[in-house]
Amino acid sequence: MELRPIKIGKHTLKYPIIQGGMGVGISWSSLAGSVSREGALGVISAIGTGYYKNRQFVTNSQFGRPATAKEFHNREATFQLFKDARAICGDAPLGANILHAINDYDRVLRDACEAGADVIITGAGLPMNMPEYAADFPDVALAPIVSSPKALRLIAKRWEQRYKRIPDAIVLEGPLSGGHQGFTYDQCVDPVYALENLIKPVVEEAKTIGEIPVFAAGGIWTHDDIKKFMELGASGVQMGTRFIGTIECDVPDVYKNLLISCKESQIELFHSPVGYPARGVRTKFIEDMSAGKTLPIKCVSNCVAPCKSGEEARKVGYCIADRLSDAVEGKLDTGIFFTGSNGHRIDRLLSVKELMTKLVYGEDK
Ligand SMILES: Cc1cc2nc3c(=O)[nH]c(=O)nc-3n(C[C@H](O)[C@H](O)[C@H](O)COP(=O)(O)O)c2cc1C
Repeated sequence: MELRPIKIGKHTLKYPIIQGGMGVGISWSSLAGSVSREGALGVISAIGTGYYKNRQFVTNSQFGRPATAKEFHNREATFQLFKDARAICGDAPLGANILHAINDYDRVLRDACEAGADVIITGAGLPMNMPEYAADFPDVALAPIVSSPKALRLIAKRWEQRYKRIPDAIVLEGPLSGGHQGFTYDQCVDPVYALENLIKPVVEEAKTIGEIPVFAAGGIWTHDDIKKFMELGASGVQMGTRFIGTIECDVPDVYKNLLISCKESQIELFHSPVGYPARGVRTKFIEDMSAGKTLPIKCVSNCVAPCKSGEEARKVGYCIADRLSDAVEGKLDTGIFFTGSNGHRIDRLLSVKELMTKLVYGEDK
């Protein structure tokens, strides 16, 4: 199948592939810049940016961590991330991913727009007020992540009523994706909620609203997978995990090697203080935690609203800001390493260019 250019709002992607935003620190300037340079949409994760470049933009720390959401989701670091990515991709379309569940969501969204994002993608909650926060940036395309036609309906209804605007694109994320899920544990393993079964109703719903491209996400790995979901009605795909297996991905080798060595049976869902099940690698740290051996939870960064300043973290046994940032700093003993259900399929690192050639033309080209 020939992959053709696609428009998201005012921006045209050469290929209908979005590299999913991966926080903390997984899709930063190197990965996102390289993906955009190769004609897909590179997406910078704009959360936890205080950890960029060894926390050099953080002016207020406690226990070695960025103190407060303002320092954790750091404006100056976000600007530097975009500058560094632009040095790689020039003026090719470049996106930002911002979880709706974070504290300071509105401010972080404005920061990303000001820093030069062309597309903002938001999941982990229904971004009902997204157009309000982006009102000063009419060229920035807005793309919510949904997991059901109902969620799309609710968002679109509110946006039309309040802002006379419809989403510029939709990412439909199924239950094989990495990190946080838009489903309960039971739904994640129920075939009713498989991406293959969600795509048609969501595409139908999108058609009733307007001309909205739907990007399917979760477990997509090869050109044939892309073809399959586009034949089922998607306009394109969003892929996360496979991009971790690239030379340019921003995480240290510890993270990449963990995925290269991990087995399918080691990838599982666990609780998260964000309030959704999250998928990652079962490391010794996860085993210890499940056995009740937890680390102190201080809530220095106050990162996500549903955690209620550490209340949920204490319930599930870990602070998500501290554990994800330890992963991105290569700390195997205390990090939590998110992955999609296909993480075990990474067997060696490819350049983004090589990977894009495989995705666009098929594995053998
Ligand atoms: C390590 C990791 C971190 C992620 N972090 C985020 C995030 O911060 N925000 C978000 O919207 N999605 C996040 N995701 C989801 C991806 O953007 C993507 O939609 C999803 O992983 C697609 O499934 P795949 O990994 O099987 O390709 C993350 C995924 C992974 C693997």
